[in-house]
Amino acid sequence: MKKIALLGYGTVGSGVYELVEKNRDRIFKKYNKGMALDKILVRSLKRYETLEHYELFTNDFEDIIAYEPDVVIEVMGGIEPAHTYIRHFLENGVDVITANKDLIAEYGGELLALARENGALLKYEASVGGGIPILKAIQESLRGNHFDGVQAVINGTTNFILTKMHNEDMPYKDALKIAQDMGFAESDPTSDVCGFDAGRKLAIMSSLAYEKNIKWSILPIEGITEIEPIDIENAKLLASKVKLVAMSRYEDNRFYGAVRPVFVNASSPLGLLDNEFNGVQLTGDAVGAIHFLGKGAGKLPTASAVYGDLIDVIQDIKLRPDVQFDNDFTSTKTLPCKAKWAIRVSGTNLMEMTQCLTYVFIDNKLRIEKGHSSSDILAIIEETNEEQLITKLNMLFSNPYVEKIKHFLILDSL
Ligand SMILES: NC(=O)c1ccc[n+]([C@@H]2O[C@H](COP(=O)([O-])OP(=O)(O)OC[C@H]3O[C@@H](n4cnc5c(N)ncnc54)[C@H](OP(=O)(O)O)[C@@H]3O)[C@@H](O)[C@H]2O)c1
Repeated sequence: MKKIALLGYGTVGSGVYELVEKNRDRIFKKYNKGMALDKILVRSLKRYETLEHYELFTNDFEDIIAYEPDVVIEVMGGIEPAHTYIRHFLENGVDVITANKDLIAEYGGELLALARENGALLKYEASVGGGIPILKAIQESLRGNHFDGVQAVINGTTNFILTKMHNEDMPYKDALKIAQDMGFAESDPTSDVCGFDAGRKLAIMSSLAYEKNIKWSILPIEGITEIEPIDIENAKLLASKVKLVAMSRYEDNRFYGAVRPVFVNASSPLGLLDNEFNGVQLTGDAVGAIHFLGKGAGKLPTASAVYGDLIDVIQDIKLRPDVQFDNDFTSTKTLPCKAKWAIRVSGTNLMEMTQCLTYVFIDNKLRIEKGHSSSDILAIIEETNEEQLITKLNMLFSNPYVEKIKHFLILDSL
């Protein structure tokens, strides 16, 4: 009999409890192993008083320790006390499952090492992509590959907002308000709309894919708060959509990772992903490009990923116990390869701005698109790496008629 303790009973925790209860008999028949989820830790008991299984609840961590669980499922969120609690159990050889991306992005390497030292398992499938089994795919089914790229629409809130802006010609603030009213965005949406959530998930995926200690703090991160209706219109002119993409590449020991709004061909796999859906494209040297699509958050999709980890623990499946991240790599803050870019130049004199653009980019393939606005130019620049592009955009910015410049990677050009 495996004794399970649940730390947290919110959106995800209640879903996990539901799945454990629903599947208990089936699991017993299938693996001849029982599960008992008899202790649940929360902060304030009052919220849970009316539940049928209220006697399982406690707000005292000492009760969880005294229960002597075989498996701990942490779905409280945040760094502390989750970090201390998880460390306590791993040090004592207890298997831990968590959905906590904030914690794993910050302390994943340390906690995996602690698990290894103490013969325990640490599993965190639900921390990236909710119900999409992306971490397991990287670690199991795709083990025969060296990965060289990850591209992902991995934050449902921002994808919902950008979809509203695209389909209903809505400004950012109105789309955010609808997302909040419909429960797709939190009252404080900073972590989502500023790209931090996607950055943490990218760091977790990239660490596993390249077996490197990728900290999310090294990533250049840009969110969607500065996306204007004209950016969406410009993307439409190019048969594209603006998507917040978490992307990384690894080549010749050099890592590039970033979260940034990009133009994605509207009929490509990531371009077709709308609303709260998430998608990840991995590129491996053997498998080529492979796509995973599905619900990246929510009670049961996320609980489904936690439950999958639980079944592995119940069966004592040890997933790559040798996984170790090293620091042997260099990183760059700008896209290191040649790509195609959409440039928006805003200012007061279109003719002067066009002349300046043509002059600055005289050595590059430049195409000026007919835009909608009388104060903006949309230009397409091909086969340029980002560092060179930024140098030239800085030259352009010194023109007195230019007030603002934005550049978007055209993702399909990679
Ligand atoms: N929601 C999703 O769709 C989703 C998707 C993927 C991953 N995740 C991750 O899953 C985790 C849980 O998310 P959630 O949405 O389920 O959160 P939630 O709805 O806010 O629930 C949090 C639960 O943890 C308890 N809790 C929080 N701090 C605690 C503490 N210090 N001591 C004891 N109990 C504590 C809360 O108890 P009280 O009610 O008493 O405060 C509540 O029961 C987070 O790490 C999140 O990033 C969530």
